[in-house]
Amino acid sequence: MSLNKGSLLSLTKIKPQQVIRLFELAKKIKTLRAKNALKLNNLDKSMAMVFFEPSTRTRASFQFAAFNLGMRVLSQFYGESTSVAKGETEIDTVLNILALRPDILVVRYGDIDELDLLLGKIDTPVINAGSGRRGHPTQALGDLFTIWQASKDIKKEKVLLIGDINHSRVAASTSELLNIMGVEYAYCGPIEWLPLKSKVKKFELKEGLKWATVCMPLRIQWERHEDKDTSPWRDKKKYHETYGINELSAKHFGKGLIMSPGPINFSVEMSREVLNDKRCKVLEQVENGMLVRSSIMSEILGIKVGG
Ligand code: CP
Repeated sequence: MSLNKGSLLSLTKIKPQQVIRLFELAKKIKTLRAKNALKLNNLDKSMAMVFFEPSTRTRASFQFAAFNLGMRVLSQFYGESTSVAKGETEIDTVLNILALRPDILVVRYGDIDELDLLLGKIDTPVINAGSGRRGHPTQALGDLFTIWQASKDIKKEKVLLIGDINHSRVAASTSELLNIMGVEYAYCGPIEWLPLKSKVKKFELKEGLKWATVCMPLRIQWERHEDKDTSPWRDKKKYHETYGINELSAKHFGKGLIMSPGPINFSVEMSREVLNDKRCKVLEQVENGMLVRSSIMSEILGIKVGG
């Protein structure tokens, strides 16, 4: 089963064999890229990107992902540089870009129900590049690809998601993907930021790090918090001492992987020194995200990847 001609708006319907197929293809693209041997002959295919929220990694890696396939990047539209600044809605913006007939549309947006509905109905394949607090499917796939490459048996891994679970779209999609793939995971963070009704295990940091083979501190999504001015966790030092990954807390963690989807607020969820820890895969995650995005677009558009 492939993603042929479909959209990737969430991971709800993805099957484990589709995920592994994407990973095998991403691995192949990595090898060909390292040998400078990718055939770039798909100039008839175009990708349009519309980002209504800020981005560095996702935006740049989708562009590189399209270049890996020899596609044209139709254009890149970003927040205040669009006519949204003049009062046009996000929906009208998307409809106008669709009128240019790109082969695939990549969209990042906030919690906008109407846009969710529209993107679910249109014929052009769409990839969700992060939507509000609801999901970030390509980030979850890229991060699992990082774990998959390092793991002898992915089902034996134990992933600890740390921090602002309730507001994090990465936590939402990663939890969904780990469920689908049968990988155990747990949460750690301030009680008010944890889904208390969920049956997922919850740990204090020290115990969680001892339990996990992968730990992933998440950025606090203050832009989605209603109590952003009054939360006690505005105290960065207190948050870092309680939930931060640093030279001290990382001593409780075994031989596994320290990951972050980024961006990282250093001295809050992670200390800068941890970047030099051999277990830290943060920059590999960026490359892997790009590779998986290439394989997703290759599957959706039927682009053959060959050397
Ligand atoms: N991980 C991630 O989505 O980063 P950006 O917001 O920089 O794209």
